[in-house]
Amino acid sequence: MKKPSFTVSSFGRTKYGEKARKFTLNGAGGVVLEVSDYGGKVVRLFTPDKRGKLKDVVVGFDSPAGWDSGDPYWGCIIGRYSNRIANGEFKIGGKKIKLPALNNAPGGIGCNLHGGARGWNAYVWKAEPFIDGTDVGVVFSHVSPDGDEGFPGKVEAKVKYTLTAKNVWRVDYEAMSDAVTPVGMTQHVYFNFKGEAGGTIEDHVMKIAAGKYLPTDAGQIPTGKLKDVAGTPFDFRKGMRIGEMINAPDRDLEIGKGYDHCWVLDPPKSSKSQWREDRRLRYAGDVFCPLNGRGVAVWTTEPCMQVYTANWASYDQTAKGGEHLSFRCGVALETQHAPDSPNKPKWPTTLLKPGEKFSSTTEFRFMAK
Ligand code: BGC
Repeated sequence: MKKPSFTVSSFGRTKYGEKARKFTLNGAGGVVLEVSDYGGKVVRLFTPDKRGKLKDVVVGFDSPAGWDSGDPYWGCIIGRYSNRIANGEFKIGGKKIKLPALNNAPGGIGCNLHGGARGWNAYVWKAEPFIDGTDVGVVFSHVSPDGDEGFPGKVEAKVKYTLTAKNVWRVDYEAMSDAVTPVGMTQHVYFNFKGEAGGTIEDHVMKIAAGKYLPTDAGQIPTGKLKDVAGTPFDFRKGMRIGEMINAPDRDLEIGKGYDHCWVLDPPKSSKSQWREDRRLRYAGDVFCPLNGRGVAVWTTEPCMQVYTANWASYDQTAKGGEHLSFRCGVALETQHAPDSPNKPKWPTTLLKPGEKFSSTTEFRFMAK
């Protein structure tokens, strides 16, 4: 086992004029994670194969300008609310809240996506690197003012990245608000275990611990129904190549141009609810590259996981190392509550009340077969 360590370097300016920094975390187990304080974005992430050979397994950019040149969500923290809110509208205590509804899939009516025009991904966060025994990490914090992107309440958010000696990247989220507001954060890292410029992830094998997923309307808003995965291209319970059925004639796949859906993670057998509501860290799924054996298992306290295979990506972006981003060049495993929860009162709530603390944990456990 190595001694954990970190270095800090400058990372250039964002399009908002803020100065960003980059933190290189050298984990005691061998994993190396490079992250920026610009929205907690993952720049590089090296994981070992069985022989200990490291490879960078994420899509990222060499400077803030890379993110600012197109889709800004590669590898970032999403907030205040991850995923979609239909029409950018919902009610709190009978009062209508209106947010910008800038995201629109063909056939949709528009929605609020990932916190709005300038979500938390687009701010430089306060960042404090740390070493704690065999752990190394960074604590990011950000204050979102009342009215930010139309959301009510001032929210103080904290996201802690920890790299452990067991090659686990743990992400702990916390938030407090001074008014009732929806909060749901996630990490939007895209894996490609073939490495930088690895091409499509359709050959990766994925497992998802979910017997149900959420079908959507044409605007990618959940219809409100939970659908059984059995007999559909969404059945990853036993493990399946991502590309196996991704182009199958299926209305949900057509809407998402591939996988861009939320799976409802199986609750414990003893539970009467269809949702994981006990907030314990549980296995959500895994993704492996059969060519080199590298992979990740995801464990989370969240009830759902949105799996997105980069079907809508802006392809004029050039990632680090000159890689030109291509269709399905990464897979994002976004642990979260269900999309459009503020408009689905029967689903687990995302409303955070003053005096309460939002907390959520997801672990990315890297391994090699
Ligand atoms: C969404 C996609 C969206 C992407 C943007 C994902 O979380 O599910 O629909 O295009 O984020 O990066």
